[in-house]
Amino acid sequence: MQPSITPVTEADDLLPLLRACDLPVADIAPSQSQQFFALRDDRGLLGVVGLELMQDLALLRSLAVDPAHRGKGLATELVAFCETRAREQGVQRLFLLTTTAARYFSRLGYQPADKCAAPPAIQATAQFAGLCPASSSLLYKSLGRPRP
Ligand SMILES: CC(C)(COP(=O)(O)OP(=O)(O)OC[C@H]1O[C@@H](n2cnc3c(N)ncnc32)[C@H](O)[C@@H]1OP(=O)(O)O)[C@@H](O)C(=O)NCCC(=O)NCCS
Repeated sequence: MQPSITPVTEADDLLPLLRACDLPVADIAPSQSQQFFALRDDRGLLGVVGLELMQDLALLRSLAVDPAHRGKGLATELVAFCETRAREQGVQRLFLLTTTAARYFSRLGYQPADKCAAPPAIQATAQFAGLCPASSSLLYKSLGRPRP
């Protein structure tokens, strides 16, 4: 079975991987505005990514790949999938917070953003407001309009 990315309605089986990667789980509750996508094959869960939607803004969060499957482009695939989903839902700017992977995301076209000048909707997310350490960096990418 080829790995495939599918939407998640029940987050329970994502939590061990997210916890093992030291990513916040306290606010996870999949919904229309908090979407999670899992990359799986017949061996099980390989990776996960999340998207918190706020009209034309969104927060990419919870990007994690099982350590046994890193370095094969799986996170790049998950980020691209998430960006497409975001664009399809009218998102024009995608933000993220990270303590360890700013360099990784800059390779994928994300730019540093001033946390003090972040849009109020982004500042109001649980991740921004406290779950992510104060030392985390804020990055963003402009997605533009959905492709026809
Ligand atoms: C960051 C992470 C998602 C990357 O997953 P991955 O599937 O291995 O990534 P890809 O295969 O798409 O990319 C691998 C490349 O990114 C680089 N890379 C991986 N993590 C990196 C990091 N934290 N900082 C800088 N570069 C990184 C690798 O060295 C590799 O480089 P190469 O192509 O020159 O060899 C994975 O390491 C992970 O789950 N980390 C723990 C959770 C985390 O930090 N999430 C991000 C914050 S939300």
